[in-house]
Amino acid sequence: MCGIVGYTGNRQAAPILLDGLARLEYRGYDSAGLAVRDGDASVRVVKTKGRLRLLAEKTDDGRTLVGTVGIGHTRWATHGEPSELNAHPHVSGNIMDNGVTTDDSEVVGVHNGIIENFAELKTKLISNKYTFYSETDTEVAIKMVDYYYKKYKVGPIDALSKTMVRMRGSYALAVMFKDYPGEIYVARKDAPLIVGVTEGEGFVASDVPALLKYTRQVYYIDNLEMARIVPGEVTFYDLNGDTVKKESTTITWDVEAAEKGGYEHFMIKEIHEQPRALMDTFNSLVKEQKIDLTGAGLDDETIRGIERIHIVACGSAWHVGMASQYVIEDIANIPVRTELASEFRYRKLLLKPSDLVIIISQSGETADSLEALREAKAMGIRTLAIVNVVGSSIAREADNVIYTIAGPEIAVATTKAYSTQLLTMYLLTVQFAFVRGVIDEEQYQYYLSEIKTIPSKVERILENKERLQWFAAKFSAEKDAFFIGRGLDYAICLEGSLKMKEISYIHSEAYAAGELKHGTISLIEPGTLVIGVLTQKHLMEKTVSNLAECKSRGAYLMGLTSNGNYSLEDTADFTFYVPRVDEHFMGSLTVIPLQLMGYYLSISRGLDADKPRNLAKSVTVE
Ligand code: G6P
Repeated sequence: MCGIVGYTGNRQAAPILLDGLARLEYRGYDSAGLAVRDGDASVRVVKTKGRLRLLAEKTDDGRTLVGTVGIGHTRWATHGEPSELNAHPHVSGNIMDNGVTTDDSEVVGVHNGIIENFAELKTKLISNKYTFYSETDTEVAIKMVDYYYKKYKVGPIDALSKTMVRMRGSYALAVMFKDYPGEIYVARKDAPLIVGVTEGEGFVASDVPALLKYTRQVYYIDNLEMARIVPGEVTFYDLNGDTVKKESTTITWDVEAAEKGGYEHFMIKEIHEQPRALMDTFNSLVKEQKIDLTGAGLDDETIRGIERIHIVACGSAWHVGMASQYVIEDIANIPVRTELASEFRYRKLLLKPSDLVIIISQSGETADSLEALREAKAMGIRTLAIVNVVGSSIAREADNVIYTIAGPEIAVATTKAYSTQLLTMYLLTVQFAFVRGVIDEEQYQYYLSEIKTIPSKVERILENKERLQWFAAKFSAEKDAFFIGRGLDYAICLEGSLKMKEISYIHSEAYAAGELKHGTISLIEPGTLVIGVLTQKHLMEKTVSNLAECKSRGAYLMGLTSNGNYSLEDTADFTFYVPRVDEHFMGSLTVIPLQLMGYYLSISRGLDADKPRNLAKSVTVE
């Protein structure tokens, strides 16, 4: 998500840090900042909202920030809106106008990741007389390090390890202590962090592109490890503070490949980021085995008062709505209508005050979705936005907001944003059902534990991707493909079909399987590819019959189903199995092979999967 850089050596740090951050710019960010220290003087912090160019202007390309050690950060907001105050670095005291901190033995740091128990830690720190100037979990982490550092009068490594034991979540932390000039300390759990060392210099970064200019020999910090970086030297530590021996790795990628983490395209990188993004989104909404929507302003009384739900969105976000409507109606017994924002905004809206309008949007800027939101608001209807980009227009204008924690998505065709939106809708459904008394505590815990298994099951599917790669290569010359399914499976077909057509340019259509005989079946010719999604037990036999109807007209059948559910093998020519989860949530697993198939078809046709022709990532015009 965010970008971290650090430098210690004999050159001026700020220009090197700015350059490093520029190399991480492709990841997306909304604010940036630097902290540079000159000898044993107090650190100076400079931050800006917006582009790196503004940070460069504010510091005269780094020249006004004198010092040979420093850390820098580009932030993609998760806790707290994009603003100068919330931008990193954060300090143990407060930051004065001249960028110097009010704490004369200060700790200053930057962080990537999410501290799940930040609220609890913040309360502890407040009771210990700490004050907070930002809304970030990072400020809590830095003040926690400071708290242990001062309370136990221990060294930086001990202060960090005590903090790591208390923090839950993911983090890559880079910290400087005033009492240790010229040194940078780092700690890591579930967020990438690397170190490079050259003659008389030391570098830290969250990602390879920031280091490539200086060295190709990098050290990967492992989970729950720390490191101390001084000019020309690095020492690694485990959680007990014992030193750890580590070998460096030679990076052979060029800059372009490094930006994609070694993957050929952002899309496949983002497909692989899904287990992490799903887990982060789950953890941001579930605390101690309970779904917590209070941050989104949805209290129990509001939830009980909802009579109907309208889900409004565009593109893949609309497909999330299509899948969610089955889940909400089935689990929470609330009537749902899912609509395209471009249709919703121009029709006569018969909305009632007890309705809830849910707008789903990755970017939070899609013009039709934003206008639909405004229409609903103008009628006095409560609006809830499910958005990935913090501080975006839809997030700002909706009455309530839930953020997905997918991180920046660069590929035009969405994958991880779609998946996190769907998981968010599951959690919303389960909470609505529980609060409204439709499910009991046991069912609530059952659904929650099932949803929690999704990230690791997605991981398992990704381990099997070669079969799909082979299949896609075989069908790369295909002209048409049809996706069929019933109920929830139909909703997933819509997304699978879109993924295929938008990046491989193969004409594809998704059909409710029962509708085939009302027209589409006339298009089936010998060899036409028909993909059936079959995960809903009560509908399976019917879809198998529909597949058989296609086969008898010469279609080539691919079946997508779950392990042990049903044997499609007699009918289908190629069957792909995904693990099993409660049927309501199967879409989160079946969509993964369909994303992979779209991707592999695109590359086997020699296309740029990240930038399909005529399409934009964020559609801000009607
Ligand atoms: C574009 C993107 C899609 C996305 C749709 C809606 O078409 O390519 O991936 O689903 O816009 O965008 P939003 O940002 O509102 O989710």
